[in-house]
Amino acid sequence: MSTQLITKLPAILDPTKMPQHVAAIMDGNGRWAKQQGLPRIAGHQQGAKTVKSLLRCCKDWGIANFTVYAFSTENWGRPAAEVDFLMRLFEGLLDSELSQMYAEGVRIRFLGDRSQVPISLQKMMDRSTEKTRDNRAVTFNIAINYGSRHEILQACKSIATQAQLGTLDPHQIDESIFARHLDTHELPDPDLLIRTSGEQRLSNFLLWQLAYTELHITNTLWPDFSNDEFTQAIADYQQRHRRFGKV
Ligand code: IPE
Ligand code: IPE
Ligand code: MG
Repeated sequence: MSTQLITKLPAILDPTKMPQHVAAIMDGNGRWAKQQGLPRIAGHQQGAKTVKSLLRCCKDWGIANFTVYAFSTENWGRPAAEVDFLMRLFEGLLDSELSQMYAEGVRIRFLGDRSQVPISLQKMMDRSTEKTRDNRAVTFNIAINYGSRHEILQACKSIATQAQLGTLDPHQIDESIFARHLDTHELPDPDLLIRTSGEQRLSNFLLWQLAYTELHITNTLWPDFSNDEFTQAIADYQQRHRRFGKV
């Protein structure tokens, strides 16, 4: 974050109906780069600017939680050079942005299995979490090596272990106990999910948590997703009637 200017809440948004948790599947970086005649990695660099800009909006507009899908468990299947670039990009961005995010009250958390990411990135992730743990202006969750099926399996293993040890009665397992074993245990479920670049799928993101989330799918590529379009997405969300299965 380079500036501390406050982004004013756009007049079309109702401050009493703001989502408390927005999640984003940041897709289309590669296609953006291709459109510009640039290598794919340039798309990832540009995409990072969108993240910064939206994080500031969340903080300034009273959206308490912002969660972004940065790297999936399936993304290891990409060419090694791109995977390597992404890991370095995450580490570099955390390093260069940490003090500013700290100063602005951002609390940084991570979702996903960190044991498989490079050690130097793991250290940077620990440092970011540790330094910002008492911040409360906005919670910024970054999903790195995240896959929802993996997360759910981990939760099952941990619950089964407790049952085997006799510390948990299997008959008492309910949704709230299960949710406590997920990476998102301290977060409310997302109110709004944004997916850019037009793909109409979840790609193994937050399968449990998105059960009643409102979806916003746009053809815009992630590096082009502007504050104005974010505003529009929230304005659409504010018009939705969330029934949660009731009448
Ligand atoms: C999303 O953009 C970023 C990551 C998955 C890391 P992509 O890299 O998937 O971009 P496209 O889908 O190829 O355009
Ligand atoms: C989803 O994008 C993962 C992230 C944004 C990190 P992908 O580009 O990997 O998803 P698919 O392959 O189109 O489903
Ligand atoms: Mg993609």
